[in-house]
Amino acid sequence: MKPEMRRTVIAGNWKMNFTPKEAKKFIKEVAPLVAGKDNCDIVFCAPYVTIDAAMKAAKGTNIHIGAENVHFEDHGAFTGEVSARMLKEIGVEYVIVGHSERRQYFAETDTTVNLRTKAALAAGMKVILCLGEVKEQRLSGITDEVVGMQTKLDLAGISEEDLKNVIIAYEPVWAIGTGLTATPEQAEETCGVIRKVLAGMYGKKVAETVTIQYGGSMNDKNAAELLAKPNVDGGLIGGASLVAEKFAAIVNAAQ
Ligand code: PGA
Repeated sequence: MKPEMRRTVIAGNWKMNFTPKEAKKFIKEVAPLVAGKDNCDIVFCAPYVTIDAAMKAAKGTNIHIGAENVHFEDHGAFTGEVSARMLKEIGVEYVIVGHSERRQYFAETDTTVNLRTKAALAAGMKVILCLGEVKEQRLSGITDEVVGMQTKLDLAGISEEDLKNVIIAYEPVWAIGTGLTATPEQAEETCGVIRKVLAGMYGKKVAETVTIQYGGSMNDKNAAELLAKPNVDGGLIGGASLVAEKFAAIVNAAQ
């Protein structure tokens, strides 16, 4: 079981899936399946145009809605980007920052991830900060160094007070969307490494309060074992977050 000071968070990352209509239908389907499951926070992060419909559908339920990214400037000439102020105004509570698909396909770096994190926190949102090693790094035995460096760079300049609104998602890149899952032992070990790095930055007591999720092909079959690990405080779920029964089974596994 998790220490009481840490909240388990089960978050879906819809990625580039679900139109507003599809999201509405999905929320109606999933909401009764997760109703009353209060041992974890339940979040779905949606494409920008789908957020409003998802929030309306989730009203009065225990489901929270988030965005999948945020820009670091408040406004200006940044075609195609959306600011924290815009998200906040429509009531967005959570935002994913630094997802490996953003880093891989859209050239985001630890520097921009850090700036985006700061902007979201300044606007009063909760950040799901993603980090993790690629396959070659794991095979070379440098996973701990990679996640340690990302943790330090992505959280640089973020205060202990702001850290309360940061959830870290450890997502080994080789496990995302591949059907390959880190073993519960690997997930535990690397989430533990991240917590140690946090302890070095903020002190052990603070590090113990940070929610660290595992992400990467988490599903209804493997969730219970992963979530049973002491340093794994939830999941960030892609593929399985698009199927109501599978997502609900993961939420159940967290109870
Ligand atoms: P996956 O995605 O569950 O489909 O592997 C996880 C993620 O990208 O957050």
